[in-house]
Amino acid sequence: MKDKRDFWPDPTESSPVQGVELLPMRPDHLDEVVRIEQDMFPIPWTREAFEYDLISNQLAHYFALKKDDEIIGYSGIWLFGNIAHLTTICITREFLNTGLGKWLLLTTMKLGEEMGVARYTLEVRESNSAAIKLYESCGYRKVGVRENYYHEIGEDAVVMWTGGPPYDG
Ligand SMILES: CC(C)(COP(=O)(O)OP(=O)(O)OC[C@H]1O[C@@H](n2cnc3c(N)ncnc32)[C@H](O)[C@@H]1OP(=O)(O)O)[C@@H](O)C(=O)NCCC(=O)NCCS
Repeated sequence: MKDKRDFWPDPTESSPVQGVELLPMRPDHLDEVVRIEQDMFPIPWTREAFEYDLISNQLAHYFALKKDDEIIGYSGIWLFGNIAHLTTICITREFLNTGLGKWLLLTTMKLGEEMGVARYTLEVRESNSAAIKLYESCGYRKVGVRENYYHEIGEDAVVMWTGGPPYDG
């Protein structure tokens, strides 16, 4: 029988950047997270959206990367049985292209796997080539397009999944 987890690479043991700590995201991280969000995303999530997921959404699990007492990245998933939706991943400008995004994604996926996740899905802006490259390098494949998903900026979403069909949406 195949591994219960689907097709994605094993995470490397340690962070590619020294002195990085991975923590469950907490409401008191949100001043920094919302500031980063506004810097890094064309359609930033609001503080209320993060608060809902951190405080009320039982399906949500969020992680923060800290270095020298500052948040330098974060990620989030929603768990639906053995399928998880990657809701966000972000690395601050200073640490882009250092391998941290890949490490954070694989570590997040590994933590999900420990909670029973076998497959992941996500949506990504079709022009976000950095993110698409990251996802492909972690075992995600493009399976479809949702037209005008990011209607605020008139952009389509590429839908990606780990593993093979059948896909659920
Ligand atoms: C997407 C993001 C998390 C990638 O983080 P990162 O730490 O810079 O990525 P890494 O250094 O770990 O690189 C991971 C892979 O993506 C590739 N990559 C990263 N940035 C890239 C870019 N600008 N263009 C092309 N490829 C890129 C790397 O070459 C690497 O590929 P490899 O594993 O084959 O060598 C980061 O760009 C980011 O936070 N962007 C803003 C927020 C965002 O758009 N999040 C995604 C929402 S769907």
